[in-house]
Amino acid sequence: MSDLTAKLSLSDGREFDLEIHKGTLGYDAVDVQVLSKNHLFTYDPGLMSTAMCKSEITYIDGDQGVLLHRGYPIHDLAQNADYLEVAYLLLYGERPTKEQRDAFNKQVRNHTLVHEQISRFFHGFRRDSHPMAVMCGVSGALAAFYHEALDIHNEEDRDLTAIRLLAKMPTLAAMCYKYSIGHPFMFPQNRLSYAGNFLYMMFATPCEPYEVNPVLEKAVNRIFILHADHEQNASTSTVRTAASSGANPFACIAAGIASLWGPAHGGANEACIKMLEEIGSVDRIPEFIERAKDKNDPFRLMGFGHRVYKNYDPRAKVMRETCHEVLQELGINNPLLEVAMELERIALTDQYFIERNLYPNVDFYSGIILKAIGIPVSMFTVIFALARTVGWISHWKEMYNTMGLKIVRPRQVYTGHTERAFEKLD
Ligand code: SDX
Repeated sequence: MSDLTAKLSLSDGREFDLEIHKGTLGYDAVDVQVLSKNHLFTYDPGLMSTAMCKSEITYIDGDQGVLLHRGYPIHDLAQNADYLEVAYLLLYGERPTKEQRDAFNKQVRNHTLVHEQISRFFHGFRRDSHPMAVMCGVSGALAAFYHEALDIHNEEDRDLTAIRLLAKMPTLAAMCYKYSIGHPFMFPQNRLSYAGNFLYMMFATPCEPYEVNPVLEKAVNRIFILHADHEQNASTSTVRTAASSGANPFACIAAGIASLWGPAHGGANEACIKMLEEIGSVDRIPEFIERAKDKNDPFRLMGFGHRVYKNYDPRAKVMRETCHEVLQELGINNPLLEVAMELERIALTDQYFIERNLYPNVDFYSGIILKAIGIPVSMFTVIFALARTVGWISHWKEMYNTMGLKIVRPRQVYTGHTERAFEKLD
């Protein structure tokens, strides 16, 4: 506990001494649990001032633009780690030894295939379905195939389910893409890295050999790391809320995917690239900056702003560096990068954005890299969901391993009718 104290005094004479919870880093939290027993609620729409749990997985300092995964800065991980190493760190709390890493990688590789009948699910969708609609469906459907390890109170089952989800998401994501273009599904190649295997399943065909481009493999690995986890964002808190009722982990992940799909959250990468394409050239930027500031215009700068970061999103910095590297190494001159850089420069000197601490977030540059890799825009949020699955499942495991399950059930301030009689219509 903290040496800070809190007292709530109400004008009707009631007084409450409130406990303070102090984390290892970041804000202290005032414990308000006593209030509901005294017919009082806190009111916090959007939960901007509410800590819904205690967690050891990820720390964000929005003022300083800091992101740590189990204490390791995101920049160090993105530059030096393999995605599965980061996945191990998020899931188990410590970096793997070489032996643990090799055993973990082997375990994941042994679960990359999906049940052959799942491929028939895809054929129930229209070819032009949005791949996030397909991912919501097929990820939830996994529960129909792996129910033998769904005793959520059994740690071994939880570990196996975590491995299965981590291993199968790239396979399902690539199947979404292949189905949308009418190409045959490609089976995972366990000789490849996690990122390399995803590129293979996305772009290889049965007709000719496919060599993974190391530049793209490195970029995909980094993009996966930058999206792996981010504390209690909308989709992660959705997963926690679904898990709190005891729902099976596949259903919880499907709920997370659904929440991530929104353009204010994970759908922003798709929305951002469409915005940059709509802007089209540097000379049209002022028009869109004015629209973003106009309260009567629903337009916002996609890829800008963040609930927590009131400084530069550290992931956006790495993403911007990666963007330059990938385009340079591929010899691509994408005019959208010039539009993005100029848009960023202008916005960061505009009082409207400065006063509101609006900076580029993780979604601002990612779309340009994904396009350079050859990923279609409709697949951008699927990539986000693929990479975020390990974060979602790490929080799901943490709930069982440390917090215990208390169903998430917020209250409300009721503003409807008082009781009134219902007379039958004559
Ligand atoms: C992700 O939470 C996470 O960690 C999410 C994430 C993760 O890894 O899980 O980081 C991933 O979701 C990143 C965010 C991606 N979304 C976008 O890029 C969409 C565009 N951004 C906005 O929709 C907005 O910034 C949010 C949703 C991200 C944050 O919204 P908040 O915290 O609710 O802030 P707000 O809407 O109350 O905005 C505060 C002010 C408002 O102006 P005023 O009413 O005070 O005058 O800033 C303005 C807003 O109008 N504003 C913007 C803006 N974002 C906020 N104005 C123009 N363009 C924007 N992008």
